[in-house]
Amino acid sequence: MKHPIRTLIVAAFLASLPAVFAADANPPAIVPLPQKMEMHEGVFTLRPQGGVFHGRTKILVDSAMQETGQYLASRLAKSTGRAFAVNNTAQTDLVNNAILLTASGAKADLGPEGYELVVEPGGVVIRAIDPAGAFYGVQSLLQLLPPEVFADHHVAGVEWIIPCVHIEDQPRFKWRGFMLDVSRHFFTKTEVEQILDAMALHKLNSFHWHLVDDQGWRVEIKKYPRLTQVGGWRKEIGFKLDPKASTAYGPDGRYGGFYTQDDIREIVAYAQARHINIVPEIEMPGHSTAALMAYPEFSCTGGPFTTDLPGGIFNGIYCAGNEQTFAFVEDVLAEICDLFPGKYIHVGGDEVLPDNWKACPKCQARMQQEGLHKEADLENYFIRRIEKCVNAHGRNLIGWSEIREGGLAQNAAIMDWAGGATEAAMAGHDVVMSPLADCYFDHYQSEDHSTEPHAIGGFLPLSQVYAYEPVPATLDAKYQSHILGAQANEWTEYMPSLKHVEYMAFPRLCALSEVVWSPKSSRNWPDFTRRLPVDCRRLEMLGVNYRHQTGNTNPAYSAK
Ligand code: ACM
Ligand code: ZN
Repeated sequence: MKHPIRTLIVAAFLASLPAVFAADANPPAIVPLPQKMEMHEGVFTLRPQGGVFHGRTKILVDSAMQETGQYLASRLAKSTGRAFAVNNTAQTDLVNNAILLTASGAKADLGPEGYELVVEPGGVVIRAIDPAGAFYGVQSLLQLLPPEVFADHHVAGVEWIIPCVHIEDQPRFKWRGFMLDVSRHFFTKTEVEQILDAMALHKLNSFHWHLVDDQGWRVEIKKYPRLTQVGGWRKEIGFKLDPKASTAYGPDGRYGGFYTQDDIREIVAYAQARHINIVPEIEMPGHSTAALMAYPEFSCTGGPFTTDLPGGIFNGIYCAGNEQTFAFVEDVLAEICDLFPGKYIHVGGDEVLPDNWKACPKCQARMQQEGLHKEADLENYFIRRIEKCVNAHGRNLIGWSEIREGGLAQNAAIMDWAGGATEAAMAGHDVVMSPLADCYFDHYQSEDHSTEPHAIGGFLPLSQVYAYEPVPATLDAKYQSHILGAQANEWTEYMPSLKHVEYMAFPRLCALSEVVWSPKSSRNWPDFTRRLPVDCRRLEMLGVNYRHQTGNTNPAYSAK
């Protein structure tokens, strides 16, 4: 029998709910949009403190979900100001006043990154066959809470309510990436971790770390200490930038920095805890001035080299006729493979300027010995040799569009920035899409440059990122599984601070997350722009800078 007083209390409670949860309200602002989401009446209230009628909400986990439970607890502890107990349980179904994370009853067809999230007034259940899926379920759960949940400090006066939903979700693509260039400007360990947090919020799983380029070598290599002692530094900020725009000057007046191998291990672990794979990039044979400044003997000319050229083209290139160059690069890659556990090692391969090779007797002799007719063939020879080394470490090579020329072993993957995706996929290679036109986040966000920080050029508005389709229209269906996904590339020539990097990344990365996660059929620009302000509030809570859509009203794009 219904208790009349309780019915009244419930009615009064429902009437007091914020309008956002009324039956006709908009669905919650989850970014990227889940594959399938049903709204139900009512809310679940998270109770960090407990009260007269309720205890404190608990997090319950089965043995596989322990780490994910701890991640959720630590996120909630910061903003609610209360520690949440994470207890192991044998329960497999909804437990009153608890958030249950379990593999039990999980739908295998949602895959290892998929999850089911059920929020009922009594409790929350996240089911996934793999902790990665549970982690993404937790991200959606956090996004159902008020954005203040992402604050790193206690936020008082927030009602921690979660609308009742049933979500079944899984990603469209398995490579959902972001590339950060830390060579043109150095970003600290904490700064990189902040980027990883913002990626995790958007269910992105691949951080391509551009560690090496002409302007700086950023990863400690034990066998070749000069790479970072010499190659990690320059005197000038370069790119005609104001030195005050960056915090990367050392007390001795040197500009730059590097990650020790301990730093790298720490960041790799930080990323792994967020189900993000790090793809390290060690550029070769071009874009190698910083390495050659440290070890000019591996160049054609013997140097000298400097990373202190103001603007202009400089593209140091290894000597491909010198056996010692290969020994050096292979030693470096051996240490890189020890540091980074992921499947792919990125070796660059783009924009090789062959002038030095043309004038080098050793390179010319190599071409003759190997029957190579032009310098592009010598590049192919170089990459193929390196590929054997990467494979010997049990890894797969990935490189930019240019490595496709001349043929590669079947297990090499291509990162398409300048074409070749269709041809590579048809030849059986896996492909990551990051085309210059749609995925270069160093391009301007407005055509009115007077209101934007100086950028390298181009124009890539948010709407264009959102409309981007990674599978080339010309690619026959039978090859489409070779398109692993897509990523944004952020080249930082003109971005000397984290705030500036974030300004260029967000909210374009929010749009790209939807391109790579959500079903193609759900792309809906008006709905995305409805959800976006809430997502931007989350970024604010995380302390992440972003471009306001009304224009550059946010002055903090650089530290000037
Ligand atoms: C590139 O933008 N050169 C890969
Ligand atoms: Zn040479």
